[in-house]
Amino acid sequence: MKVQTLPPQNGNFNLANYEETAKNFNWADVEKEFSWHQTGKVNIAYETIDRHAENPKKKDQIALYYSDANRDEQYTYEDMKKMTNKAANVMKDAGIQKGDRVFIFMPRGPELYFALLGAVKVGAIVGPLFEAFMEGAVKSRLEDSEAKAIVTTSELLDRVPVNELPHLDTLFIVGDNVSEEEGKVDFLTRLSSADENFDIEWVDREDGMILHYTSGSTGKPKGVLHVHNVMIQQYQSAKWVLDLKEDDVFWCTADPGWVTGTSYGIFGPWLVGATNVVRGGRFSPQDWYGTLEKYKVSVWYSAPTAFRMLMSAGDELIKEYDLSPLRHILSVGEPLNPEVVRWGEKVFNLRIHDTWWMTETGALIVANYPSEPIKAGSMGKALPGIKVAIVDDQGNELPPNRMGNLAIEKGWPSMMRAIWNNEEKYNSYFELDGWYVSGDSAYMDEDGYVWFQGRIDDVIMTAGERVGPFEVESKLLEHPAVAEAGVIGKPDPVRGEIIKAFVALLEGNEPTDDLKEDIRQFVKKGLAAHAAPREIEFRDKLPKTRSGKIMRRVLKAWELDLPTGDLSTMED
Ligand code: WT7
Repeated sequence: MKVQTLPPQNGNFNLANYEETAKNFNWADVEKEFSWHQTGKVNIAYETIDRHAENPKKKDQIALYYSDANRDEQYTYEDMKKMTNKAANVMKDAGIQKGDRVFIFMPRGPELYFALLGAVKVGAIVGPLFEAFMEGAVKSRLEDSEAKAIVTTSELLDRVPVNELPHLDTLFIVGDNVSEEEGKVDFLTRLSSADENFDIEWVDREDGMILHYTSGSTGKPKGVLHVHNVMIQQYQSAKWVLDLKEDDVFWCTADPGWVTGTSYGIFGPWLVGATNVVRGGRFSPQDWYGTLEKYKVSVWYSAPTAFRMLMSAGDELIKEYDLSPLRHILSVGEPLNPEVVRWGEKVFNLRIHDTWWMTETGALIVANYPSEPIKAGSMGKALPGIKVAIVDDQGNELPPNRMGNLAIEKGWPSMMRAIWNNEEKYNSYFELDGWYVSGDSAYMDEDGYVWFQGRIDDVIMTAGERVGPFEVESKLLEHPAVAEAGVIGKPDPVRGEIIKAFVALLEGNEPTDDLKEDIRQFVKKGLAAHAAPREIEFRDKLPKTRSGKIMRRVLKAWELDLPTGDLSTMED
């Protein structure tokens, strides 16, 4: 296959010389930029906000532009310091202490950012939840982490099964006329009267800071714990990969319910002192181009599904907007097709830079850099200071162009430090001596560019969101008509993959379209809209191993008309 190479962009980039930097770089030099270098203690919320608010030259710079259909607001670094201090005071007054798990379950809005950073200032461990989660998904996460508090809205409150969560004793509620009974705290009223000064809880760099739940192919969602030290790599990658300078206006389109929306929707851009744009509400091409234009966005981080949706809206639309300040575009979450890269060049006159990382890695690991050539279809090269390799199942490094496990040498700064309450699961990532094994397969060419080949497990990536088939199957089995269920990702031109469910019905149920819709709605209400199967196919029986495990790879082979492979473990 012929590889298309796109030459470097022109400009003064933070990472001017990849090879030189990769050779000489030392993480210890980055650490010197943060407070623990002097005091031995740190708090990432201080480094993101207060550090700039205390700088007379920076305090009046806009830190956050927020808008949606009803709101249009802006906050300087000084405003952000005050608001996050207020939020911290509200939480501390309600008894939140260092190490407590505090979940944030609300749509994007300034209060989400105040609450999240306020909780971090108290020393709590924050657990962001995507607003579309339904009761079952909320419950399993709060239960597993023994959450003490949740910040949510009046509208979302009925998805929090308070009575079934014995550890949950405080509900911070964002809404009008909140009555403060049974552990409820009227968050906005308290916020407005709270003191705008707060004594930050100084913690160790290895203390817990954020818990992102993510899906695997088996078992319940797992809580990936990151510590304050994650900032080192978020900061450095925001500089090198996002190429952020202090006068940049940056827009990361991801929701903070997912790791991209915290690592680069909150920490990365503020650690470097840039201006951050948050746009609430739903996707529409007009709205997105309008947002880029309105804020004069210069650096934009989004995902292949979004680019493909913009692409299908047609190229005429873009001409109605002045996007001239835009200088750098990046993508993450799923394979970025060369076709989309070519579209980006045509309509923005810019390259789209693919990047690769995961919830577990905390920050960017593999990327394309503005000063380096891009090979269309490749995710780019390892971040300087981090060793990435392709290894076989025994942990031997493979030579160039051989497909294997995409692995990272253990010990990069933003590496997850635990899977909550599940040491065995955590250790399973590191079974090959010295390597973290990502679950992705890839190869690396002779120039160090990494080429994604697919997931090794059955995890589904739909519209950039990671969905575990097991969680969907479990929910399907709760439906009164379902006997067996197997869930796979089916390739889709826009969403990357869609969720397809194969279902065997219990006797006495007719396989009708109405029943399909009913089952779909059942998953949507029980888990989340993005986890509901777009396609359901009824089968009399599903392929299972003798031990009763649904064989998803056989379902996938049926779906794609591929050979089914070794069936020796399949029951008769
Ligand atoms: C999985 C991680 C933090 C990034 C957002 C998703 C897939 C990620 C790429 C890419 C192809 C990608 C991988 C990875 N993925 N980036 N550039 N090309 N696939 O985070 O939910 O933890 O999912 O997303 O399969 O393992 P996540």
